[in-house]
Amino acid sequence: MNNLFRTKSLNQILNDADSSEKGLKKTLTATSLVALGVGAIIGAGLFSLTGIAAATNAGPAVTISFIIAAVGCAFAGLCYAEFASMLPVAGSAYTYSYATMGEFIAWIIGWDLVLEYAVGAATVAISWSRYLIKLLEKFHVANIPYQWMMSPFETIVVNGESITGILNLPAVFITVLMSLLLIRGTQESAKFNGFVVVLKITVVIAFIVLGWSYINPANYADYIPANTGKFENFGWTGMVTGAAVVFFAFIGFDAVSTAAQEAKNPQRDMPIGILGSLLVCTILYVLFAHVLTGLENYKNFIGEAAPVAKAIANTPYVFLQELIIIAILAGYSSVIMVLLLGQSRVFYSMSRDGLLPKIFSDLHPKFQTPYKSNLLFAVLVSVFAALVPVSIVGEMTSIGTLFAFVLVCVGVLILRKTQPNAPRSFRTPLVPLVPILGILVCLFLMYSLPGETWVRLIVWMGIGIVIYFGYSKHHSKLRKSNDAL
Ligand code: ALA
Repeated sequence: MNNLFRTKSLNQILNDADSSEKGLKKTLTATSLVALGVGAIIGAGLFSLTGIAAATNAGPAVTISFIIAAVGCAFAGLCYAEFASMLPVAGSAYTYSYATMGEFIAWIIGWDLVLEYAVGAATVAISWSRYLIKLLEKFHVANIPYQWMMSPFETIVVNGESITGILNLPAVFITVLMSLLLIRGTQESAKFNGFVVVLKITVVIAFIVLGWSYINPANYADYIPANTGKFENFGWTGMVTGAAVVFFAFIGFDAVSTAAQEAKNPQRDMPIGILGSLLVCTILYVLFAHVLTGLENYKNFIGEAAPVAKAIANTPYVFLQELIIIAILAGYSSVIMVLLLGQSRVFYSMSRDGLLPKIFSDLHPKFQTPYKSNLLFAVLVSVFAALVPVSIVGEMTSIGTLFAFVLVCVGVLILRKTQPNAPRSFRTPLVPLVPILGILVCLFLMYSLPGETWVRLIVWMGIGIVIYFGYSKHHSKLRKSNDAL
């Protein structure tokens, strides 16, 4: 039993990372880390969910939903920053748990992160496909093969004709393309990301600045619409549910921590990367949501997957619609890329610890990236993105991420007790208050997600536990080294 909770010492983790020095290249600076965070954060959550959360949960007060979600993320972000500066290794929350709560919990968290990174990438790939359809429609491309752009579980009505999907091929295309870019090299991927981030931020700022003077104050008359009697529909409870919905928009800032082993000066730059990207995005999100609900009445965003295009129609800048959609498509691709990067780095660490087969840590001889892992996930994520509807994968991503955040906050509390004097270049302020608030907010947001999402989480974890006892426990390097003593 004790074996399940054996921990890896901080020194051992850092030594292992050193011994792989010849492996992952150290190329990332503070700026590229912030860009990596923003690259992963701004995506489907902002460009699709803001309108939906306004229409069904919060009204114009979706701005406050964003602030609630940001506060929850900030608590968790502060805990991530302490760990990432202390243990700058590729495994992120997985490795932090290995050092604090032992191998079994570490395994659980590593397995859980698949929901955040791989399933998250599939979610955004599906939304990418949605915006591609919008773009084709804007360019008046006739005969769009809708059935090859949707999951077999989705049906849409076009010109009175009901069409059921077969496979979502564009989602597969973008997943494979981003995986190939990742294989080519982290620096190359960071360059692409940097370019897309500039584009993405330009679109968000342009929308805020250009839209601001066309805001119709009448749209804010009902700023916090009265609750309809259902918990999730408006009022204060709706606003909180809205926070759980738009939480998806913040997912990704923690992906910065998976690149810690590739950072030039991780002790100083990891906190900057994590907290800086979170801060930039929070400010942009609140302003964006304010302008969006000011340009168009929140009621008109019901079922609208591309609310930006709708809002912009109320300004003289309608001609920008196509350009904005192209920028959004590029923007989503960097989210997919950084999430896939996070996925391969977590499994890289788990594989180096012996908990997963070696295939996940084999590096490409020339590019020094875990290419076999990238290829395998290209296939797995593609299958998911091709077949599963967006709502299912989106909620699975959120619950998986929140669960990881809870464990990271718990980890900081434990490490302050067990290793009070270990060097930390960044310290989470007000411990234990901040981690405890982080745990409570994240648990509350998890509670707001639908019951079937909980069932999926439990089933996924069940599969993980079977693999742990069937394979990982026996192949653990830590166990082997302890047994040899
Ligand atoms: N935060 C990312 C997005 O909204 C996952 O697309």
